[in-house]
Amino acid sequence: MLDTLGTLERTHSCGELREKNVGEKVVLMGWVAKKRDFGVLTFIDLRDRDGITQIVVSEETDLDAHEKAKAIRGEYVIAVKGEVFSRAEGTHNKKLATGDIEVHVHEVLILNDAKTLPFELEKAGSQNLASEDLRLKYRYLDLRRPRLQHNIRMRAKAVKEIRNYMDNLGFTEIETPILLKSTPEGARDFIVPSRIHTSKFFALPQSPQILKQICMISGLDKYYQIARCFRDEDLRADRQPEFTQLDVEMSFANQEMVYRVIEGMFTSVLRLIDVELPNPFPRMTYAEAMRRFGSDKPDLRFEMELQDLSETLKGTEFAPFASVLENKGEIKCIVVKGKADYSRKTLDELQEFVKRYGANALAWVKVADETTSSLLKVLGEEAISNIVSNVNAEKGDLILIVAGKKSVVAAALGALRIEVAKRENLIDRNAYKPLLVTEFPMFEYNDETGNYDAAHHPFTSPMDEDLEKFKTAIEDESQRHLLGEVRAKAYDAVINGYECAGGSIRIHQKSIQALNFKALGLSPEVARERFGFFLDALEYGTPPHGGFAAGIERTCMILCGTENIRDVMAFPKTASAQDLMMDSPGTVDDSQLKELGIKVVE
Ligand code: AMO
Repeated sequence: MLDTLGTLERTHSCGELREKNVGEKVVLMGWVAKKRDFGVLTFIDLRDRDGITQIVVSEETDLDAHEKAKAIRGEYVIAVKGEVFSRAEGTHNKKLATGDIEVHVHEVLILNDAKTLPFELEKAGSQNLASEDLRLKYRYLDLRRPRLQHNIRMRAKAVKEIRNYMDNLGFTEIETPILLKSTPEGARDFIVPSRIHTSKFFALPQSPQILKQICMISGLDKYYQIARCFRDEDLRADRQPEFTQLDVEMSFANQEMVYRVIEGMFTSVLRLIDVELPNPFPRMTYAEAMRRFGSDKPDLRFEMELQDLSETLKGTEFAPFASVLENKGEIKCIVVKGKADYSRKTLDELQEFVKRYGANALAWVKVADETTSSLLKVLGEEAISNIVSNVNAEKGDLILIVAGKKSVVAAALGALRIEVAKRENLIDRNAYKPLLVTEFPMFEYNDETGNYDAAHHPFTSPMDEDLEKFKTAIEDESQRHLLGEVRAKAYDAVINGYECAGGSIRIHQKSIQALNFKALGLSPEVARERFGFFLDALEYGTPPHGGFAAGIERTCMILCGTENIRDVMAFPKTASAQDLMMDSPGTVDDSQLKELGIKVVE
């Protein structure tokens, strides 16, 4: 028989009691995290969202309570009444906030039992968790883990802090619809069929981009929203199909004004974990970030910058390198300090690693009394020693070299830099290094279609300095390649190698917007069909405006010190975009499909 709660109320949480409470009569409720049976004494670790308290039930002082305690198993839900005692000398537990006390209990209520869990929640002090798929299937149990409880509460605190911060700056929180039309972020849409308008579809917003710009046209001036976004794209450790942004837009704003809001927002949020970010944030142009780190979101917690060997190897007769240089490619390297002793096996692993980023090979030089290199035979001793001295490598260092197309060298070496830093523990886990990356390119050349795509989105303004180039490239077909050189008033905020926010100053003049659509290969008809309402709105007095969106999950990953986005979401999807707990996506009834006028083709 289970007990009922009746009128009983908790006096404290399981994380609250301290030495000062000794002597108090208390009522605690929670889950049985652990039970230890010592014959006449039974010890229970009682857990709730605040922590764990040690409960002691003695056969000698209370036979009934002890009988009940003996029947209790893991994850039972119980209530206990008792008195707070100081722990006996030598039994204080420094790892628990409540570790100086224990509650001697004279009454135990079993409020519910529990089946044996399909996995152990958390072995004390161990990182040995059950497989993530199993934990996601039983997400309600996984969420009981103190780590996740902490993360979910940290997320709530962060969002509250953000709301306060935005509110103090005079921004208005405005909700925008989820049933929408395609928005311009460039991923695939999730679409929702309409029952009332058969064969028509809503699209879920990839972001509230257009609507927040419309709010500026409406004179709302300072908008923000904690907004849900939906993107059907390949998932990664820091990407979910459904995620949340702090979305911001402001009128009469230039980049500097937006930067100040971004910096202030992250600064106030990071204070939640007692971290003081530098203000203003360091800045770097996109071009510099790519050159020095091979990435537009460099992790500045360690050095190991990319170094260019193209000059050193100019005129080389080694055919693969010569052809790379001839075709405007690059030869670059990183110097790994003190790692000239890497084994063949490790180097093979790293070679496989860079191949995933499109590199053909990974060449190496081990600087030692007798320097060795995978390139010794083909380049000769002199060239190798030139490389060593030009990159300032010292005895004991390892040089890792990639040659190829610029984009491939950046991607491969940029990723290798991080991989090596992780392997060698070069990343200071207590460091928080923010960066504003500015002057992003306006367009990306698409090898497959031969078109230029918007690097950010089609409403991003070109930089004033590049406006002439932008116009020339669009008006003169023979100068189209210049589009690749146009920079945008677009920026990202990066913390510890994560792109935590991105934004831009928008185009507010219809003539430039029309030129941009032309550059993107959107005919006036297609542009009108997709964004006609917006083009119309632009004609009724649009103020200059700009803004940004910050990823709430990525920000919380920084706050919670995790590299897995699922650790900061209550109900995330798997890497293959499924909800294992609810088993979705799933099929729907034929009658539902019929109502929607949809036939599934197997
Ligand atoms: P952007 O596409 O750069 O910009 O997104 C802004 C920020 O949102 C986060 N983010 C994601 N987080 C988790 N999972 C995802 N799939 C995901 N995609 C993006 C990142 C990113 O920096 N409308 C523009 C903003 C603007 O121009 O104002 C936008 O959405 O932290």
